[in-house]
Amino acid sequence: MNAFSLKNKTVLITGASSGIGKSCAVECGKHGANLILLGRNKERLEETQSQISKEVKTGIIVADITQENLENSIAEKVESVGKISGFIHCAGIEKTLPFKKHSAEIFQEIFDINVISGFEIAKIISQKKYRDDVASFVFIASVAGIVGEIGKTAYSASKGAVISGVRSLAPELARNNIRVNSISPAMINTPILEKMFENIGEEAASEIIKKHPLGIGTAEDVANACVFLLSDAAKWITGSNLVVDGGYSI
Ligand SMILES: NC(=O)c1ccc[n+]([C@@H]2O[C@H](COP(=O)([O-])OP(=O)(O)OC[C@H]3O[C@@H](n4cnc5c(N)ncnc54)[C@H](O)[C@@H]3O)[C@@H](O)[C@H]2O)c1
Repeated sequence: MNAFSLKNKTVLITGASSGIGKSCAVECGKHGANLILLGRNKERLEETQSQISKEVKTGIIVADITQENLENSIAEKVESVGKISGFIHCAGIEKTLPFKKHSAEIFQEIFDINVISGFEIAKIISQKKYRDDVASFVFIASVAGIVGEIGKTAYSASKGAVISGVRSLAPELARNNIRVNSISPAMINTPILEKMFENIGEEAASEIIKKHPLGIGTAEDVANACVFLLSDAAKWITGSNLVVDGGYSI
């Protein structure tokens, strides 16, 4: 038995149409997981699906996680793909703005996607009818949730909320054999980062890159950490925040 295998596990991934979520889908598929891919754009989800081995089962849910009650769609996919034993909440948005531009609406939008929707989905799939006897939930947080960065007050607050929410949810769900962890990446080369670098300019971007002793990361670096936390190799790990940051936070 390979403890790192995801064979016979079904993993639901939000934000599966790009960046880290897409890479999580591909890597989990390589490790044998069946996949339920959730995102807003059907074509981009199909593009992700096309990169996954035909040997695993896949299903797609096209939805905005803040707008829709997802229980019916999840129930339908559980029927066709399998009971869920892994969940990765990867959908997220980032905004870098001076504090004076941080409106209540901006806080709300960031919290709706990064925090509330993820925990709402976790609530749905922690019901016995949708999940396997043993399950693992992984929330993608950020180093911004543990160290400060100018212009990220709302984003950092949302990721801090994810990290501390996970810490309280873990002991509550342990009795149901559900492990709950977060991963805190630093800068990863994805569309979210490209957009941020455009906003802050070249000089500020190169300052941030310099703060990573191992350079900026790839989506696969985070996906591999997800595979580990979803697998039985991590069966005694819950409530933790795994920092995957090329040394940024040290
Ligand atoms: N890239 C980085 O440097 C970095 C660093 C730390 C943490 N993160 C976190 O990693 C996660 C993934 O980010 P990424 O870098 O892959 O960026 P990305 O923009 O490529 O991916 C984010 C995904 O979330 C989806 N999404 C956003 N709002 C949604 C909504 N309302 N409903 C459904 N889907 C929605 C987007 O469509 C996109 O597919 C985010 O939570 C981000 O905060 C990223």
